[in-house]
Amino acid sequence: MVDDALISGIEISYVYPDGTLGFDTLSVKIRRGERVALIGPNGCGKSTLMMVLAGLLKPKTGKVLIEGEEISKNIDTVRRRMGFVFQDPDIFLFNPSVEDELRYSLDQLDIDDDRASELLDQYSRIFELEKIMSKPPFRLSGGEKKRVELASVLIYSPEILFLDEPTANVDGKTRRKILEILNSYPGTLIFSTHELDVAEKIADRVLLMSVEKRIILDGGVDLLRERSLLEEVGVI
Ligand SMILES: Nc1ncnc2c1ncn2[C@@H]1O[C@H](COP(=O)(O)OP(=O)(O)OP(=O)(O)O)[C@@H](O)[C@H]1O
Ligand SMILES: [Mg+2]
Repeated sequence: MVDDALISGIEISYVYPDGTLGFDTLSVKIRRGERVALIGPNGCGKSTLMMVLAGLLKPKTGKVLIEGEEISKNIDTVRRRMGFVFQDPDIFLFNPSVEDELRYSLDQLDIDDDRASELLDQYSRIFELEKIMSKPPFRLSGGEKKRVELASVLIYSPEILFLDEPTANVDGKTRRKILEILNSYPGTLIFSTHELDVAEKIADRVLLMSVEKRIILDGGVDLLRERSLLEEVGVI
């Protein structure tokens, strides 16, 4: 049988340097074009699992494959195909101005100047960044930082997109915009959220993690209607 997995985590687990278990041994397959929501209580390992699947953290056990090949062996090629929106924008934002932040990813991908200017205009407009383009990202509000982070990842349309709580900390208008963009996003999406309506609107598959730091359920969005189960796990 042909393996249709885009990303596979096989018997993976992660332990932080201080000895904290990030998540316990699990296997998971993400297929091309899937839109996967990771849900679960605080500290259950959603962020850690996404970072391991994206090749940003090396698993303690097991391995991560992308199209059947070990991700660590092809990390440079993989980086160009992937985007990662971190839960905490401060981890990500390091350029001296918002404009540089947006240009940075385009420079990495050798996108020509005319096209880069076009994209810069387009995405600064979409995320309403025009008035803050010359500001240093660390002098922005939490929601503004998130918008800059999202814009600087979405601007290069990665084929595989990891989003760690994309709608946390943003106002209603921005939230609607993000939902609209993600809804029409053609690539593979893996995102975490505490907002079940966001999961319901965007996802076609739901992975539920528990305080034991494992995936305990893997199914369709109808899983989000299992109120008593979600309450028991601590999601609602
Ligand atoms: N840098 C770190 N060093 C040590 N332990 C960490 C670190 N980051 C996370 N952890 C621990 O790893 C576990 C998983 O954390 P993770 O951030 O992946 O959870 P999460 O499901 O994303 O939670 P949240 O809903 O709060 O974002 C938790 O026990 C957490 O305390
Ligand atoms: Mg998290």
